[in-house]
Amino acid sequence: MNKSILIIGACGQIGTELTLKLREINGEKAVIASDIHEGSNELMQSGPFELINAMDYDSILKVVEKYAINEVYLMAAMLSATGEKFPEKAWELNMNSLFNVLNLAKSGKIKKVFWPSSIAVFGPTTPKENTPQETVMEPSTVYGISKQAGERWCEYYFNKFGVDVRSIRYPGIISWKANPGGGTTDYAIEIFHKALQEGKYNSFLNKETKLPMMYIDDAIDATINIMDAKPEAIKIRSSYNLAGMSFTPHEVSEEIKKTIPNFEISYSPDFRQKIADSWPKSIDDSKAREDWGWNHKVDLEKMTTIMLENLSLKYDFNY
Ligand code: SER
Repeated sequence: MNKSILIIGACGQIGTELTLKLREINGEKAVIASDIHEGSNELMQSGPFELINAMDYDSILKVVEKYAINEVYLMAAMLSATGEKFPEKAWELNMNSLFNVLNLAKSGKIKKVFWPSSIAVFGPTTPKENTPQETVMEPSTVYGISKQAGERWCEYYFNKFGVDVRSIRYPGIISWKANPGGGTTDYAIEIFHKALQEGKYNSFLNKETKLPMMYIDDAIDATINIMDAKPEAIKIRSSYNLAGMSFTPHEVSEEIKKTIPNFEISYSPDFRQKIADSWPKSIDDSKAREDWGWNHKVDLEKMTTIMLENLSLKYDFNY
């Protein structure tokens, strides 16, 4: 069966690059981008686009039928920091969109679903170092609660209705093409923009806040690999732990200084500090490595080089 893929939330930070990569692999016509608003020129010009409200079942169904879609990647969500400002909206968007897609699969209209979970499913009572796949999970943000509930629903739909849903718990994702949207890990992207624009950055997380992070290319690879794996290989139908690197604001600033020696960092923690403090520092992702061959490629040093190289073109920065 030929793949016909729909990406919901295609204009977001991860959706943009996922769409471009899936089009490179499957051809532009096989990958339908959709979002509630239009995206970057690069995305809009790369293939078909439809406006979809992820909370409206009928608007998704219409596009699924129009293009005979068989796989859906649901990338629309309200992230941790914005979710704390709009808790009900975050819950509504994150849960309704998931139910819409799971129900499309349950009714047989689509065959496979990707839905991302997050390190935000963990909470203050979770072991912080090398956080296991199965452990105490008492998330303290609305975003985390929605992702944890979502994981339970994914497993439920798999067990009860045979829905082929696959999921990974993304760490903080670092990229330069599309801006991130309202996450606690966004400092690790802002820092590169500010380093090149102003030579300094005031971090909203404190110096020693270590969090699990991943460069976008690794995140996209993981997403495509788990979707391509044989169904029998996917032994966890809630969501897989996934890890790349872990670092603190201080450590990334030291890495930036290797290229921009005068770079200065200061710290003014805000409400996001408490969110970050409730999350793991590092993740044990051995199950993903064993079950479907996950392997990350990009470490802190490499990520810093890629970010500075690409963003220096945008800001016309010479070094
Ligand atoms: N990057 C996300 C956030 O900070 C975590 O999934 O909300």
